[in-house]
Amino acid sequence: MMHPIEVEGYPSFMAAAGRTLLEVCDEQGIPMESACGGFAACNSCRVKVLDGKLSPLLEEETAFLDRPDQRLGCQAKVCGPLKIALDPGI
Ligand code: FES
Repeated sequence: MMHPIEVEGYPSFMAAAGRTLLEVCDEQGIPMESACGGFAACNSCRVKVLDGKLSPLLEEETAFLDRPDQRLGCQAKVCGPLKIALDPGI
């Protein structure tokens, strides 16, 4: 099932449920960084969730999140309509 995704500052698009934010942003040319290669070992893919839901939070993500509204883009999967902002760590 396809869902509308809005990344602050970029044109909105449709993405299939079950795909990671990193995958779908890459395809759209949205510059989500992935310093560790998508293995939940950095925070360059981090996003702030403004609205909507994602796949359940994984324990591996928690070390890289400063606030409860953040997720790692390489781990969080599309589950429904979503509004996010890129929020990478340093
Ligand atoms: S790309 Fe490194 S944690 Fe997501």
